[in-house]
Amino acid sequence: MCGIVGYVGAKQAAPVLLDGLSKLEYRGYDSAGIAVSDFKNNINIVRSKGKLCILSEKTEGGKKLEGVCGIGHTRWATHGEPSENNAHPHYNDDRTIVAVHNGIIENYAELKGKLIRQGYGFYSQTDTEVATKLVDYYYKKHNDPIRAIANFVLRVRGSYALAVLFKDFPNQIFAVRKDSPMVIGIAGGETFIASDVPAILKYTNKVYYVGNTEIAHLEKGKVTFYNLDKEPINKEVAEITWDAQSAEKDGFEHFMLKEMYEQPKVVKDTVNGLLVDGKIDFISAGLSDEELKNFNQITVAACGSAYHAGVVLQYVTEELARIPVRVELSSEFRYRNPVADKNCLVIVISQSGETADSLAALREAKKLGMKTLAIVNVLGSSIAREADCVLYTKAGPEIAVATTKAYSSQLIAAYALALKLATVKNTITGERYLSLIKELSSLPEKIEIILNGKESIQHFASEAANKKNVFFIGRGVDYAVGIEGSLKLKEISYIHSEAYAAGELKHGPISLIEDGTLVIGVLMQDRLLEKTLSNLVETKSRGAFIAAVTCENNEKAAEVADITINVPKTEGLFAASLAVIPLQLFAYYLSVLKGNDVDKPRNLAKSVTVE
Ligand code: G6P
Repeated sequence: MCGIVGYVGAKQAAPVLLDGLSKLEYRGYDSAGIAVSDFKNNINIVRSKGKLCILSEKTEGGKKLEGVCGIGHTRWATHGEPSENNAHPHYNDDRTIVAVHNGIIENYAELKGKLIRQGYGFYSQTDTEVATKLVDYYYKKHNDPIRAIANFVLRVRGSYALAVLFKDFPNQIFAVRKDSPMVIGIAGGETFIASDVPAILKYTNKVYYVGNTEIAHLEKGKVTFYNLDKEPINKEVAEITWDAQSAEKDGFEHFMLKEMYEQPKVVKDTVNGLLVDGKIDFISAGLSDEELKNFNQITVAACGSAYHAGVVLQYVTEELARIPVRVELSSEFRYRNPVADKNCLVIVISQSGETADSLAALREAKKLGMKTLAIVNVLGSSIAREADCVLYTKAGPEIAVATTKAYSSQLIAAYALALKLATVKNTITGERYLSLIKELSSLPEKIEIILNGKESIQHFASEAANKKNVFFIGRGVDYAVGIEGSLKLKEISYIHSEAYAAGELKHGPISLIEDGTLVIGVLMQDRLLEKTLSNLVETKSRGAFIAAVTCENNEKAAEVADITINVPKTEGLFAASLAVIPLQLFAYYLSVLKGNDVDKPRNLAKSVTVE
């Protein structure tokens, strides 16, 4: 999520760094900073919590930091809260080595322990400070930046893009990456480094894509690459020929991939948009506590993935708020002649706010005199305008037809509604409420962890590429997320798939299981684990190949499954938010493998404005 920019040339570096960072804002961040080496070779650092404009103000648009070489960073907090102290760049004790970093150093605790034993102190909670001091440690040992970085690579586990300034090497940047993006741009007498091409596209369209563990040495208008043995590597410069539309993908191969990667941010934004003083607040949606208290029934109408978010809403709301919820396909609701009930809240969920059936369902509910709440992503859309109350999800523009980030933000709206109803109806304790809010706030970080482990899912997809049929099974919320996983797969990979409540298998679908049929079990609910596992065993004994999506350290699942896909532990009610991520990635990689048009799958439209 973080963004890196670096510059060495003849211009003042700071304004270039700020400009580049602004192009990386979409990645999501909560603090930012820049470091520039001045004409006396001192490295000056300015950092700030919050938006880039604060950093810009602090540095007078970069004017306050003189010098022609520097690095900049936008940080999305992982290790340690968003704060100026945790913001990058980080530095060694005498500020002779200064670094910015993207990614996660998995063994940072072990490395920190080692450095502490060597006499290092730490001022922040970040893994980046550990990375910086590890480079410092090896630099002091070898007196050579390339060798220091090569040693760093050998000691560190995880993903990183790292850019470092050494006071002893003025007007030069040293960089390395592994599994985190980094490009180097070159133009005349200038050299750039960035997490993504758009940050530097304004200055150059000639870039080098840095390979894993390749070390780059940037000087004015020149870059040299080395391997870990410090042998120079020859690399081809690539010319970017993007049109405006693909540039909007911000360096991702597909909008869908970009949008999946935005999920930590949009989930965070949607959670934050609903929290006032640490508590869920629906006043901005136009619903008072008093009104909410009087509803004794909820009906959800939606289509596609929004309908699936509605199914999650049903499980979570019934569990927490003890009020009956009915979920309907908008296309059915509109013609079903529903029974009017003044104490029933009708919720229409829609990303676009323009889906014809959902708009019609909304109008039908209004005609029957029922109060309507729209959970919508697009500001000012028809459904948003016509509903009595509106809760906006904060997913931002979604371009890929197969929704990912909008669905994730709809889930957050669903949890928030369930929690709000539970408080006004007094069906959960204050303690449980607070612990659920805390868990809600931890979801973005957990989603990011899953995204960072995407390679294992890519590998799983390559093994599943020849499957003709895939079944998803689960119980409760696990079933609700299974139907979304199945839809994603159908939409973009064109592989036939079905999702079933695990208990229904024996009532028909099990007859379709044969040797090698892929069955994906979603096993996120402790309470229901053994039940679903038994159903998986039943398919396994009929030849099925079993994949389990489950929480870490689930030994029982690992015993049964041929492949286990782990996600971080979370509250069972919020499990869909995590379990859906590997299912989205699975569908995505299968689509890529099959050479499909990922963002614009055949026969489908982003917004279905006709019946
Ligand atoms: C289309 C899209 C789906 C979406 C559904 C509902 O079928 O392809 O991704 O879930 O419409 O769209 P809405 O905008 O109402 O959420």
